Amino acid sequence: MDRLLEVRDLRVCYRKGTEPPTHVVDNASFDLAAGETLGIIGESGCGKTSLALALLGLLPRGGFVQCGEVRFKGTNLIELHEADLQRVRGAEISFVHQDAGLALNPVLRVGDQIAEVLIAHRRISFRQASGEARKILAQIGFAGHEQIDRAFPHQLSGGQKQRVAIAQAIACGPALVIADEPVTALDALVQVEIITLLKTLQQHFHLALILITHTPAVLVPIAHRIMVMYAGRIVEQGLAPEVLQAPLHPYTQGLLDSGLDLLPQESPAGPLSSIPGEPPNLAALPAGCAFAPRCSDRMEVCQTREPVESHSGKSRIVRCIKYE
Ligand SMILES: Nc1ncnc2c1ncn2[C@@H]1O[C@H](COP(=O)(O)OP(=O)(O)OP(=O)(O)O)[C@@H](O)[C@H]1O
Ligand SMILES: [Mg+2]
Repeated sequence: MDRLLEVRDLRVCYRKGTEPPTHVVDNASFDLAAGETLGIIGESGCGKTSLALALLGLLPRGGFVQCGEVRFKGTNLIELHEADLQRVRGAEISFVHQDAGLALNPVLRVGDQIAEVLIAHRRISFRQASGEARKILAQIGFAGHEQIDRAFPHQLSGGQKQRVAIAQAIACGPALVIADEPVTALDALVQVEIITLLKTLQQHFHLALILITHTPAVLVPIAHRIMVMYAGRIVEQGLAPEVLQAPLHPYTQGLLDSGLDLLPQESPAGPLSSIPGEPPNLAALPAGCAFAPRCSDRMEVCQTREPVESHSGKSRIVRCIKYE
């Protein structure tokens, strides 16, 4: 496999005051090949965003990587100085946020916002960057919208704003785009359009894509591999068709029981009807397997010992005592 990203034993924590830090991502290890799409699913609060932000050194105040490695093209990003990391962000790895409305600058025309990214990473004049920005906007679905680069974000619909945010993300030709819930705020039809756009771009530019979502259905048309997170742990990973059609972990089974249809509108983030209970408080995890209190397959040992990873086949990994 042509490995672009190798994450090893990553632990992400948040510190509040003098309390001991809370581990919100622990023991995370996974690989991503060039041109591959990895879908990350899991309920709210299971650590998806914290993992994604940690990869790029973008954790908010109080957040830090306690241990582990994030190797991108062989370089451990965790050890890079901020100035070097800034050269990687936007140019080689870019980030698409859930709310494009918040990610875009409200007082700048969208063409200028894309041009700014190009100028930050390339030796290029403003005039050249503006021309380039118009081309990128045409490529991501604004062909025929002559004046789109002159528009301000508030003049665009939610789907159009997300397209602009995606244009910004691909402007410098990155090898990896991390999209955190890029369609959650959109209605179901627009969700399909944006996922189709991401897939087209991914194929056209041979982009690697990490796509984070609450909704497994979003991943069906696009993901090559899927990773499932629960309470800060990766509990299952494998090829998308295998995970979606034959989930091993009881948590994945519960998540997928909520359905794989995107239309009609899926339910927003919240407790899952198919799994009783709620995810645990990460600052006070139960002993044993964190999913045990909600698991219908739980055995006595699950309440006393944490599961370790079991490998099955070439790329299937599951963290559940049942499979050890
Ligand atoms: N800035 C922060 N300070 C302290 N704790 C935080 C911070 N951001 C997130 N957390 C905690 O980290 C844990 C993981 O949160 P995270 O946002 O990574 O989850 P998520 O899977 O992305 O959830 P969602 O699906 O709701 O976006 C949660 O317990 C959350 O409360
Ligand atoms: Mg999140």
